[in-house]
Amino acid sequence: MPDGAFTLIYLDPPFNTGRTRERAVETARTLTPATAPDEAAPSPAAITQDERVDAAAGTAPSRASGDEVAASVLSTGEDAAETIVWRGFHGREYERLRGDLRAYDDRFDDYWGFLEPRLAEAWRLLADDGTLYLHLDYREAHYAKVLMDALFGRERFLNELIWAYDYGAKSRRRWPTKHDTILVYVKNPQRYHFDSESVDREPYMAPGLVTAEKVARGKLPTDVWWHTIVPTTGREKTGYPTQKPEGILRRIVQASSREGDHVLDLFAGSGTTGAVAAALGRHAVLVDDNPAAVAVMRERMPHATVVDVAPAPVA
Ligand SMILES: C[S@@+](CC[C@H](N)C(=O)[O-])C[C@H]1O[C@@H](n2cnc3c(N)ncnc32)[C@H](O)[C@@H]1O
Repeated sequence: MPDGAFTLIYLDPPFNTGRTRERAVETARTLTPATAPDEAAPSPAAITQDERVDAAAGTAPSRASGDEVAASVLSTGEDAAETIVWRGFHGREYERLRGDLRAYDDRFDDYWGFLEPRLAEAWRLLADDGTLYLHLDYREAHYAKVLMDALFGRERFLNELIWAYDYGAKSRRRWPTKHDTILVYVKNPQRYHFDSESVDREPYMAPGLVTAEKVARGKLPTDVWWHTIVPTTGREKTGYPTQKPEGILRRIVQASSREGDHVLDLFAGSGTTGAVAAALGRHAVLVDDNPAAVAVMRERMPHATVVDVAPAPVA
């Protein structure tokens, strides 16, 4: 496909592409706030597997001192956070940053090894006025944000969207995790398309505090979207396990593309992006390597053309 062919690219990759492997002891390099990366002496902070398990379960592991320095500086306000981000990440080359993450978390490294070439290809296909949405969960979102800033340029970061839902089992050992994160990047911060007027509005939380006209019109969504998961019974449900709600995709398509524009989804699953794009008058290209997904999409979009593409030979 030619460079710049798509105004909107939505990626909802599978979360479990990496090997699951735990190491008994991990070492992490941390930076003190006063030290620029080039001057930083590695300050090893040993994190035991138990601590990783504690962290995964949401209980507070005892932390090595280097971590405490970074964490406390990050929590002292925006300026401090800016400083540490600038010192810690902005001046670094992408490869160096990725190397640090590789040393720190090999599970994420496997995941990123899968995602990075697909992100790079998506970026090539994104139009100059285009927007890329990457849908992740809390385990990947923060590492991915840092790497994408380094890869695409921090100035191209537009938003971190939180999709909050309230469904399913709830842990009693930590705050139940009931949100996904969608990172949004634009190809050109001066030229990107964003149409807030066309976006589905939502009810005011405190309608008594605003005028009747405002209540009737609804309010513009912020970067936190409360939205149910796909209802277990209902028109939208396809039975595909990771299907995302049309309401979430509709907002994305409405805001970041125009009628007639081209939309791409490289992990299409049940085809939510395509179904929404078609209903809103956009053209969509949907990719998935799972025949079950293609079968669901065929049924959901009987008008679509299906092209079987042989996998590229391994070099
Ligand atoms: C989280 S699901 C996407 C769900 C989709 N957003 C929806 O609403 O139904 C991820 C999809 O990526 C597909 N996938 C995994 N690896 C892939 C690959 N290498 N190339 C293309 N698709 C892949 C899986 O088959 C799965 O359908």
